[in-house]
Amino acid sequence: METIRGKTSLDMDLTGLKERLANYNRIILDLGTGDGRYVHSLAERNPNWFIIGVDSCRENLHEHSRAKLPNMLFVIANAQDLPRELSGLVSHVTINFPWGSLLESLLAGDPLLMRGLESISSSLASVDIRLNGGALAETGWDLEAGAEQIYNNMLQAGWQVNAPAVMNTDALRNFPSTWAKRLAFGRDPRAVAMNGYFK
Ligand SMILES: C[S@@+](CC[C@H](N)C(=O)[O-])C[C@H]1O[C@@H](n2cnc3c(N)ncnc32)[C@H](O)[C@@H]1O
Repeated sequence: METIRGKTSLDMDLTGLKERLANYNRIILDLGTGDGRYVHSLAERNPNWFIIGVDSCRENLHEHSRAKLPNMLFVIANAQDLPRELSGLVSHVTINFPWGSLLESLLAGDPLLMRGLESISSSLASVDIRLNGGALAETGWDLEAGAEQIYNNMLQAGWQVNAPAVMNTDALRNFPSTWAKRLAFGRDPRAVAMNGYFK
C-alpha cells in the first residue's frame, strides 16, 4: 500500500506494516483524514495507540505526516478500495465530517465501503462517525435524514450503532480536527455523531 511522509511516498508491504504495529494493541484508523491533524493529535496524546490516517487526496497531508512519531502512519487510498494489508488489524475506525464520494458511499450503503470497513476491522471493532449539515446539504440530504440514512446503512452492514446525537459548537471547537474547527467558527455548525461496534 502507498504511505506518505511529507511529500515522499513509500510502498509498505504487510511485513513492514506488522513491524510498525508490533508493540501496539489498539490500532485506530481515521478514514477521510484530510490534513491528518486529528491523527497527529491522537498519536501525540496516546503513545500506546497506533493511529493510521487514510485519505484519497495526498496534497493536504504534507504538513502533519512529516511529524516524527513512531505511532502514526498515513496511507493514500480510496475508502472504497482499502488496502488488503490492513485486513483484520483495526480496532477502532473514525470517519470525521466526510464529504465527496466517502459521504456518498455512506449514504448509499456502498458494499465496497461497507465490506472494506468490515474486512479491516478486528473482532469487536468500534466506530465513530461525525457528520455535518453542510456536507450533507451538498449531496441533497438534510442533516437529520442523511444521518438517519447512514445510521440505517451501518446497522444493515452489521454495526451496532447508537442513534445520531447532536454535536454542539463547544464539542466541535474542542474536537482536534481541522474541519471541526472550521465548522465551529463557520456559518453552519450543525453536526451529529454516532458510535458503535461491529457485532
Ligand atoms: C471535509 S474533509 C474532513 C477531513 C478531516 N476528517 C477533518 O475532520 O478535518 C473530508 C475528507 O474526505 C476525503 N475523502 C472523500 N472521499 C474519499 C474517499 N472516497 N476515500 C478517501 N478519502 C475521501 C477528502 O479527500 C477529504 O480530505
